Amino acid sequence: LPSHFTLSTGAKIPSVALGVWRAEKDQVGEAVKVALKAGYRHIDGAWIYRNEQEVGQALKESGVPRDQIWLTSKLWNTFHAPEDVEPALDESLSHLGVDYLDLYIIHWPVAFYKDGTKYDRDLTANPYPTWQKLEEMVVKGKVKNIGVSNFNLRRMQNLTANPLKVKPVVNQVELNYWNPQPELLKWSKDNGIVLQAYSPLGSSEQVKQTLSVPVIKDIASELGITPAQVIISWHIQRGTIVLPKSVHASRVEENFKVTALPQEAFDRLENAATAHPPQRVFNPSKNWGLDFDVFDDTPL
Ligand code: A2P
Repeated sequence: LPSHFTLSTGAKIPSVALGVWRAEKDQVGEAVKVALKAGYRHIDGAWIYRNEQEVGQALKESGVPRDQIWLTSKLWNTFHAPEDVEPALDESLSHLGVDYLDLYIIHWPVAFYKDGTKYDRDLTANPYPTWQKLEEMVVKGKVKNIGVSNFNLRRMQNLTANPLKVKPVVNQVELNYWNPQPELLKWSKDNGIVLQAYSPLGSSEQVKQTLSVPVIKDIASELGITPAQVIISWHIQRGTIVLPKSVHASRVEENFKVTALPQEAFDRLENAATAHPPQRVFNPSKNWGLDFDVFDDTPL
């Protein structure tokens, strides 16, 4: 399996990252250090995870040189106004203790006002002004690559219809056995955008269930690997970067040991994953009090 994918900028991004969403402040540093020891060179974080200082501290303590680590952060919804982008980025850089990011991503296609819930309709319907500011950050050298997250097909098409100076290299979305998004994957490949799979084993409440899906268990026992390894390998073989999150050393190590599935086993899993109606496991639209569904295909 490829240890890296090549992005449209030519940058090489490690195909497996340690995800640190919902990794507690007092556990995340140890997980980062264990991951770096196990061979991970890609940490996927975000401003809103509220653990960037702990991640940065662990990176420093690990002794792994900055230029050997792929570091991602994400622009939170309250900072989409063009004048707020650079200060938000600067805060992530300072928390992480680095002077550039390898990748900076628009976390959600929703531009909150500062009060948290109400949103700016124009900037939500058309994030191009936010994107232009991200392009400026590339020119300034504060970030090497820029991308998006949680954009559905329609939103990707809207954004990329603008005269972009810098193209989004990735779209980070929920991808797992329950929600494999084959159409978005195809469109992204055709357009030179790599998908990044978050909740690759399903959401935390679902992981047990995912790991006992018969086809996944069967392939695992045929190959003498664990169900989690089957799933992570499947994601890479689909051409997506995969972001398993764990704060337990044995799982962090397990999740990095991937092997190519034989074509027949890959097809069996792909067919099973796309045979049932897709079921998204994470959608914050209601929690955020939005009057629209962020994944809805109809224009805002
Ligand atoms: P833990 O961090 O306790 O190891 P999320 O939805 O936030 O991505 O969560 C992923 C969930 O999957 C976490 O609860 C994590 O638990 C669990 N997990 C990660 N890797 C494995 C694995 N290899 N086997 C079983 N559970 C895993």
